[in-house]
Amino acid sequence: MTHGRKIRILTAALLVAGIASAALAQTPVPGQPPSAPAPVVAQHAPERASARVEDLIARMTIAEKVGQLVLLSSNRAVTGPYTTPDVTGALERGELGGIFNTYDVAFTRQLQETAVKHTRLGIPLLFGFDVLHGHRTIFPVPLGQAASFDLKAIEGAERIAGREAAAAGINWVFAPMLDVTRDPRWGRIVEGAGESPWLGGQIGAARVRGFQGERLDADDSVAACVKHFGANGAVESGRDYTATSVSERALREIYLPPFKATVAAGVRCFMAAFNTFDGVPGVANRHLLTDILRKEWGFQGVVVSDFGAVEELVTHGIAADREEAAKRALTAGTDIEMQGEAFRRDLPRLVASGAVPMAVLDDAVRHVLTFKEELGLFDKPFGRMDEARERTALFAPAHRQAAIELAEKSLVLLKNDRETLPFSPDVRRIAVIGPLADDRADTLGPWAANGQPDDAITLAAGLRQVLPKAVVEVVSAGSVNGSSPEARAAAVAVARTADVVVLALGEKSTQSGEAASRTDLGLPGDQMELARDVLAVGRPTAVVLFHGRPLVLTPLVKDAPAILSAWFPGSMGGLAIARTLVGENEPRGRLPVTFPRAVGQIPIYHDHLRTGRPPTNPPRPYTASYLDEGTEPLFPFGYGLSYTDFGFSPPRMAPIVKAGEPIAVAVDVTNTGRRPGTALVQLYVNQPVAEISRPVKELRGFQHVALKPGETRTVTLSLTDADLAYWHQDGRWATDAGRFRVMTGANVADLQAAEFTLQN
Ligand code: NOJ
Repeated sequence: MTHGRKIRILTAALLVAGIASAALAQTPVPGQPPSAPAPVVAQHAPERASARVEDLIARMTIAEKVGQLVLLSSNRAVTGPYTTPDVTGALERGELGGIFNTYDVAFTRQLQETAVKHTRLGIPLLFGFDVLHGHRTIFPVPLGQAASFDLKAIEGAERIAGREAAAAGINWVFAPMLDVTRDPRWGRIVEGAGESPWLGGQIGAARVRGFQGERLDADDSVAACVKHFGANGAVESGRDYTATSVSERALREIYLPPFKATVAAGVRCFMAAFNTFDGVPGVANRHLLTDILRKEWGFQGVVVSDFGAVEELVTHGIAADREEAAKRALTAGTDIEMQGEAFRRDLPRLVASGAVPMAVLDDAVRHVLTFKEELGLFDKPFGRMDEARERTALFAPAHRQAAIELAEKSLVLLKNDRETLPFSPDVRRIAVIGPLADDRADTLGPWAANGQPDDAITLAAGLRQVLPKAVVEVVSAGSVNGSSPEARAAAVAVARTADVVVLALGEKSTQSGEAASRTDLGLPGDQMELARDVLAVGRPTAVVLFHGRPLVLTPLVKDAPAILSAWFPGSMGGLAIARTLVGENEPRGRLPVTFPRAVGQIPIYHDHLRTGRPPTNPPRPYTASYLDEGTEPLFPFGYGLSYTDFGFSPPRMAPIVKAGEPIAVAVDVTNTGRRPGTALVQLYVNQPVAEISRPVKELRGFQHVALKPGETRTVTLSLTDADLAYWHQDGRWATDAGRFRVMTGANVADLQAAEFTLQN
């Protein structure tokens, strides 16, 4: 393939699918996922890069070129099973393109000076880091942020995270994580936006915009890197690094849409996954990296492997040795090897011998150098290294305020019998009981980047701030893994003396995240026993849950009068929770993921297909039921209570809509309770008859509305026919003409429906 020439492969004209029903005539939908049609401009090589980049490539040795494809970890933070000893040696020889797990202006400046001033070509370094929910100011974990359903707030949090990371010398973050998953056993569910591919795309695009700001080369912007491409969220058995066995349709409709949405939002980096898709690991998967990402989507940025994933091709059994692994990864479309030896040690020889064409190496180098250029690194290699900015930006007061606000928005009230919450602000004695009552690291959550546990406001500290006159007594009663009869008895004694009790239960932050899969999703250890003992005292009691995944809360929901999900709420989390417990903040978060009644129901998610034998309750023979459990979840997708109540009208819209025209859906929402509050109107769609069975309900819109008691407002949500498209059997996105159901309401299990007909 010749460089400098834009190569267009015009695919065959679109065909109307040869399906039986005339009602299913299809409208190819231009535009964004999930609606982009398959025939696209194919473009593997980037357009000819800038004169500077082409000039550098012309002058580079093979070793220098390969060096640009090497990314090694410093020991500043450890995010994988091993680190590399000779980072400095490789750097001094000009054989290192980037360093990750490194931050602080003093440290990054020293490394950048070596690269820019003391190597032959003076090419600046990339500095990468996992900034998943804040750099120093830690926001709620990504799954918690998703519960806010607040795209502006999420974008704002990433702007702050990007600004802080950039102030610490970082120019590249390994975020957002966009893996859709339906398996809460998988610890990495905490890093994503939950189970809806569409919501994942909305949130993913907001995060990319936040990190990258208006200009990628600005001193306070960082490049986002979306991960893990592709279908990593489908890892088998909910275990990290295992295979995925999903169809091309599931890939296109479930796992890829969030990634495609971020290409439209301008993301410049993809991280290729560890896991196999269709038998081939992400880093060597040409179908994903070249055919879809480069050719179909026209992506021209950089592709980095996950940690050590190139060498793991040997362990997967798709390369006989490291050399073959290097060749397979590079030729499939991986540009940079993160933390491995394959590119570094073997590519120079492979290229010199002609086993790997120079043009393929040049292509990858062109991607990397262009990425550096877009980041402004050639012109301002030290632009993100300003000590004064570092001092003022990190954990700045405005950042902390944003962290409180997003933490408040992410809290989900799961149960509130007899208006247990909010507690009166006049309570005099409050008992805070449980292993998560006062733990700073667990307040931050996993993947807390440069978050400092010492900065964190725990639940106990938050209650002391919010109720300065009250006596706040804290009893941890053991750890998440176990207590003792004596510890539980002490907790009960304290509960007896209190006006109200808060039980702080859940997971430790190390029980969620990478390599933190679990098979039992109940409260770990004997926390349920502690809860029962304390609840038996009979004081008004609220359970505050810390967790990175849906937990199986069936016994707790039976016994506890009030439950507030706090996820891992971040640096300011304890304050956000405390303010909510006493009614200074009205809970408004909604679940971005289904909570099962039992682990055996997994996978359980809202946008499933129909079955020919729908389940019945009680189970009838030969239906899609369980013998020993219902098929309904404990808490459905989109669920969450407020301190007030809301009523929703059925949706109103035109009965006939022309293809290409926007579809306006109106819903009246009334605050029927006695307190002000914010409702989230949710909109789902379904196509009753199609060429393939379509999901029963798919989220396609949402909007918050703040209402005073008794107030009614009309909310108008808009759909386009792109929102109705699906992957057809002939391998393209298209929308059918015909009947559609629109469902609106409070959550996926509490909706009212109307229908319209889409005409060509
Ligand atoms: C492995 C993880 O899978 C990935 O998400 C992360 O970015 C890298 N380690 C670097 O820490």
